[in-house]
Amino acid sequence: MSFLADRMKEVAPSPTLAISALSASLRAQGKDVVGFGAGEPDFDTPDEIKEAAIEALRRGETKYTAVSGILPLRKAISEKLKKDHNLDYTPEEIVITNGGKQALYNFFMAVINPGDEVIIPSPYWVSYRDMVVLAGGKPVFISTGVEQNFKFTAEELRSAITKRTKAFVLNSPNNPTGIAYSREELATLAQVLEEHPHVLVVSDDIYEKLLYDGKSFYNLAMVSREIFPRTVIVNGFSKAYSMTGWRLGYAACKERQIIEAMDTIQGQSTSNVTTFAQYGALKALGCDTSFIDQMKHHFVERRDYLLKELSQIKGMRIAKPDGAFYIFPDISGLLQSPGFERLQRENPEEKDMGKLFCTHLLQDYLVAAVPGSAFGYEPAFRISYATSLDQIKKGVERLQECVDKLWS
Ligand SMILES: Cc1ncc(COP(=O)(O)O)c(C=O)c1O
Repeated sequence: MSFLADRMKEVAPSPTLAISALSASLRAQGKDVVGFGAGEPDFDTPDEIKEAAIEALRRGETKYTAVSGILPLRKAISEKLKKDHNLDYTPEEIVITNGGKQALYNFFMAVINPGDEVIIPSPYWVSYRDMVVLAGGKPVFISTGVEQNFKFTAEELRSAITKRTKAFVLNSPNNPTGIAYSREELATLAQVLEEHPHVLVVSDDIYEKLLYDGKSFYNLAMVSREIFPRTVIVNGFSKAYSMTGWRLGYAACKERQIIEAMDTIQGQSTSNVTTFAQYGALKALGCDTSFIDQMKHHFVERRDYLLKELSQIKGMRIAKPDGAFYIFPDISGLLQSPGFERLQRENPEEKDMGKLFCTHLLQDYLVAAVPGSAFGYEPAFRISYATSLDQIKKGVERLQECVDKLWS
């Protein structure tokens, strides 16, 4: 007998769980595991942000706020969106959420009817698929591969759109590939979306500030005035300000009924984001941002090191990440190696080749990475370079050793 609701049959447990559990048990045995799994910057939240939250706590900012968050923070976000992107939103068109994650969840719950389709380019961030399913919708994937630099074309987008399409999700820079779309590429996608006014656009801009090589950030709302009113901007403080544990994100949308519905869902579930944490976020938007440049400097150094080393490893294909802190090697070339064939023979029940590789890498070489299937792409794995260059060097050495052995 199951006590669970039917919807739980549709939601996949995270494929990262098995790897995380194995990693934890190896560490508990005192093994020196190199962790490439982190989805958060390896830097602390800047002190002035912490101080602002402490000060708010001392001042007695300990009560409920409006569900959508304190007005000064919504005003500051409205100013940020104007200053950084030239997009006009009033504070009433903004909701502060428990991370970008809750903004996305509230949105899908607010707009999806049973059977509505949501277009998600893959590889994609782990939660989009399951959130859409939980809301009763149908995820429709546009597959991309390393050979196309993990980018899809306007034609592919056009063919994915149907009368049932409710929304299209774009995450640029992307988790897990780090790939970002240029202004010109977005403009060609926008042309297709302009032909389909029934499609809402979700712009997940969470890695906006982590874009490298002098590239500038653009999203679909910025490149098309026509799409702007039916776009939901999702962003947050986790990645840019190293505030993952604070749980602070937001959504902005011109379509008042959507924002109000998101507010209602939040009001009936979690209510406002922790009050004093919101004052930390307010400080983040007003503080000196040189630490973001420092963080970027480290990320670029690590990315370049990984690019150089990984592209020399036989059987791995890499697309150069433009941003975020992930790199996503495709390992289809490795499947023909004698060692991999041996692994498959020894584990006939394992159909997920990325997971087979990651389990072997962790068990025998003590390197923890996330299998590509977690992001809807096979066979591949994600390396997060939100860890020190020394750890990265150690991890790459072990990876090289593992692959050399598979080819021998
Ligand atoms: C693409 C993407 N969107 C949204 C989120 C949610 O972040 P948070 O809820 O911490 O704001 C993440 C976190 O990993 C992410 O990678």
